[in-house]
Amino acid sequence: MQLPHLAAGLLLWTLLVGGTDLDLKAQESLLLRSLGLRTKPSPRSLAPVPPLLWKMFHNRTLPLARGGKPPNPCWVEEFSVPGNIVRALPDQGGFIHKEEPQSWVCLQKRLYFNFSALEEAEQLTMAQLQIRLSPNSYHVSGSGPPFELSLYKASQMALRGMSTHAYSRKLVVEQSFLHLHGSLLFNVTEVAKEWRAPSKNLGLILEIASPRAGELCSNLNSFLDASLLVVSFTPKHCKSSRAKRSSHFVPAGLSNVCKPRRLYISFSDVGWENWIIAPQGYLANYCLGECPFPLTEELNSTNHAILQTMVHSLDPEGTPQPCCVPVRLSPISILYYDNDDNVVLRHYEDMVVDECGCR
Ligand SMILES: *[C@@H]1O[C@H](CO)[C@@H](O)[C@H](O)[C@H]1NC(C)=O
Ligand SMILES: *[C@@H]1O[C@H](CO)[C@@H](O)[C@H](O)[C@H]1NC(C)=O
Ligand SMILES: *[C@@H]1O[C@H](CO)[C@@H](O)[C@H](O)[C@H]1NC(C)=O
Ligand SMILES: *[C@@H]1O[C@H](CO)[C@@H](O)[C@H](O)[C@H]1NC(C)=O
Repeated sequence: MQLPHLAAGLLLWTLLVGGTDLDLKAQESLLLRSLGLRTKPSPRSLAPVPPLLWKMFHNRTLPLARGGKPPNPCWVEEFSVPGNIVRALPDQGGFIHKEEPQSWVCLQKRLYFNFSALEEAEQLTMAQLQIRLSPNSYHVSGSGPPFELSLYKASQMALRGMSTHAYSRKLVVEQSFLHLHGSLLFNVTEVAKEWRAPSKNLGLILEIASPRAGELCSNLNSFLDASLLVVSFTPKHCKSSRAKRSSHFVPAGLSNVCKPRRLYISFSDVGWENWIIAPQGYLANYCLGECPFPLTEELNSTNHAILQTMVHSLDPEGTPQPCCVPVRLSPISILYYDNDDNVVLRHYEDMVVDECGCR
């Protein structure tokens, strides 16, 4: 079975509608795999959703709700890079406590982001580091000397008991600030690309220094947290440039002919509400109806289907009618917690039935 070609929405529909006769567990794990997950996530700590991810999610959902054109699922407008997956990875590095304090260093910390959630097939296109400092930290009064913020790439693990100089490290970013507070953003795409190999990912070392450190920054409380926003794309899901249309039609008429029918899937109905953050559900639809002879053009048939209905009309017992199946599907965006509790925004192909046909 080729997972890329599975229509995830249809599987979900099977899960809901045909559930009683199927091995639900097997069906669910097949679907989760096609969504890029090892198992059904059960987030332990509900990390807050970064505001930028919320904005990006709404940015992709709003045009649809207004009946507009859906955005390209494989392009991240906010950073102008290709991507269908955006992850927010939390920092897992610890503070570095110095043996011999250097008086000019205010803060020294390891930044570590676990990249194991990224699949091998994904191509990383952007990594943005966000460091949050408390609003009133690191102020120089008057025209004092500025602060130096440095980011180093660690290239050798420091062992317990080693002094900070025992790190083998390479300067990546160095920036001076007169006031150092709030949220700081750094483009660390190049370094992050190297972290794909687990043995190469030793993280970064953050250092904040000032010649007047002693009087200006005595505590570490000014550091709130750090996170890494990683954009990647899966080539197998981003090949086609098919024009996708809005899925917000309402099938009309009572006729029994093949056409899309309205189906709203609520994620809480399938027990997924604790790891899917948004949306709570979506209009997935499904195809149902007859493919009668003669097939009309609206039924989007193939030549094969036209011949099959002809044969069926001559020999109804021996040859079945063609099937009413989805011929055009469109993507949706889902915001969720993955198996490592990362917040992920991902665009899934083939989740909504737009058009049906007799095939
Ligand atoms: C939202 O979409 C608009 C138009 O495509 C874009 O200019 C903007 O950068 C997007 N992102 C956010 C976070 O608003
Ligand atoms: C990264 O996460 C994976 C999966 O959760 C885990 O097995 C691995 O030990 C983690 N690596 C580090 C260095 O924390
Ligand atoms: C981030 O850095 C990469 C590589 O240095 C560069 O190609 C890219 O344009 C940068 N992105 C932004 C948003 O500045
Ligand atoms: C067949 O495709 C056309 C547009 O290409 C569409 O308007 C029509 O609704 C489709 N037929 C069905 C049964 O979905």
